This record gives sequence, structure tokens and C-alpha cells, in this order.
Amino acid sequence: MADLVGAIGTSHIPAVGVAIDKGRTQDDYWKPYFDKLPPAREWMAKVSPDVCIVVYNDHASAFSLELIPTFALGMAERFGIADEGFGKRPVPDVMGHPELAWHLAESLILDEFDMTLVNEMEVDHGLTVPLSVAYGQPDAWPCKVIPLAVNVVQYPPPTGNRCFRLGQAIRRAIDSYPGDERIVIFGTGGMSHQLQAQRAGLINEAWDARFLDLLVNDPEAAALIPHIEYLREAGSEGIELVMWLIMRGAMNPDVKEIYRATHVPTSNTHNGLLVLENA
Ligand code: DHB
Ligand code: FE
Repeated sequence: MADLVGAIGTSHIPAVGVAIDKGRTQDDYWKPYFDKLPPAREWMAKVSPDVCIVVYNDHASAFSLELIPTFALGMAERFGIADEGFGKRPVPDVMGHPELAWHLAESLILDEFDMTLVNEMEVDHGLTVPLSVAYGQPDAWPCKVIPLAVNVVQYPPPTGNRCFRLGQAIRRAIDSYPGDERIVIFGTGGMSHQLQAQRAGLINEAWDARFLDLLVNDPEAAALIPHIEYLREAGSEGIELVMWLIMRGAMNPDVKEIYRATHVPTSNTHNGLLVLENA
């Protein structure tokens, strides 16, 4: 059976992608953040997954107000890079794993999670920046990727609890896959940030630290955090953190925290990085 070898949580701040793409990682502003990445990158190189399930959100690149899937699974052989208004990021296309994706679709839908299946889409910074955080600048991404897009842009997003239960269903699907793939699951986005209106620039390091503690050690409690608390404490875009609960749900109830790093400032966001293995 396939093996879930670990999980990584990371923010997806577009400016991090720009810093990598333009060779600015050693600039005064960026160096303190990029100095925190090596343990996570070394872990990724060590566990060397064949497939990454990347739970992320699309930012009106592949989807729009015309079509708002709550949970969308990428089934394709290949996903192109979206042009978000400044040209495509100079990163490799993302190669999918249709066979595992169709197994996930069948397992999840029969397990009563009604996924939207996407046979063609481009992926934006929500997915490509986490890959860059994990892998740097390879000529080709070293793993296949199954994108799982979550609507956290248009109200109502799914609850944290629904995300956590979806993660548990993903684990059941992985455990019933006959292949011998080594899999890492990514939870992405967050942590606290607000990009709009009166509270633009909001960052709440104390709340984020508590969220990470709960996520690691008491995920059932983290799953019960209501939307209004994310909004109030972590800002309007802090709601992206519900995606980390999908990642956490896929892992064992008990996990080992392999690495944690956080950083302020990174653009407008409290930047989080977390590596977990099953205990
Ligand atoms: C920023 C963060 C995001 O999550 C995003 O989608 C866009 C921008 C930022 O901090 O700049
Ligand atoms: Fe975002």
C-alpha cells in the first residue's frame, strides 16, 4: 500500500516566489527568512516523496466567481502555471498522478466527500510557492503532484472540522491504494494576514503560535475553531489556515514535530513552516 511519509505546512506568500525567481534570497530583507528553510528542504530531500498531495487555494486564477468548488481535485497528467498578471512564474509545469488522483476521487466520493474533479487547470502561487519553499529551483519538480484546491476566497469556506474530516478520509484513501508510492501531504496558506480594508497588515503571532500548538498536539480541538475566530484573530486571509487541518487530518492522531519555523515580516503575512511525521 501507499505510504504517507509525512506532512509539511507552509505559507504561500507570492513575494517569496518572486525573491526565489529573481535571485534575491540573500538580500537583507529576505535572508533571515530563507535561512530558516534548510531543515525543511533537507527533510523533503531525505523522505523523497514520489507524490505530493498539495492542499492549496486558487486565487481567482483557475476559478472565478463563475465557478466556486469547495474542494477540487486535480486529475490531470500536467498542470500549467497560471499568469497572475505579471507573466507566468519561471517554474516547471506540475506533473500530476491521474491514477492515484482517480483512486482518491473514488475513495473520497464513496466516503461521502463530494469532490469536484478537475481535468484541466492551471495552478497559481497558492501551489507553486509551497513547491519552491520545499524544493528551491529544480529544472523539474522531483515529485508528482495532486493539487487539492479549497475555496477560502468566497464566503462560505468549509469549516475547519470539515477540512479535518476530509484529511482523515484522504488517509483512508492513501491506505487503500495498492501502489507503493511514498506520499507527503502539504497544508498551505496562512498564517495570520489581512490584505484588505481597515485592518490590512494585521499579524497575530501569539494566536498563530497557539494554532500551531493545537494543530500538532490537539487537532480535534483545532478543528473546532470557528470561522469567526480565524477572521477576528488571524485576519480575513488567515482563514487559509483551515487548509492545514486537511493535512493534519491525514496524519496519525499522534505526530512528531520535526521542524517549526515562523517569520515576520514576509510581505503582509506571518510566514509559517511546519514539518510533521507520524509518531
Ligand atoms: C500575500 C499573502 C497571500 O496569502 C496571498 O495570497 C497574496 C499575498 C502577501 O502577504 O503579500
Ligand atoms: Fe493567499
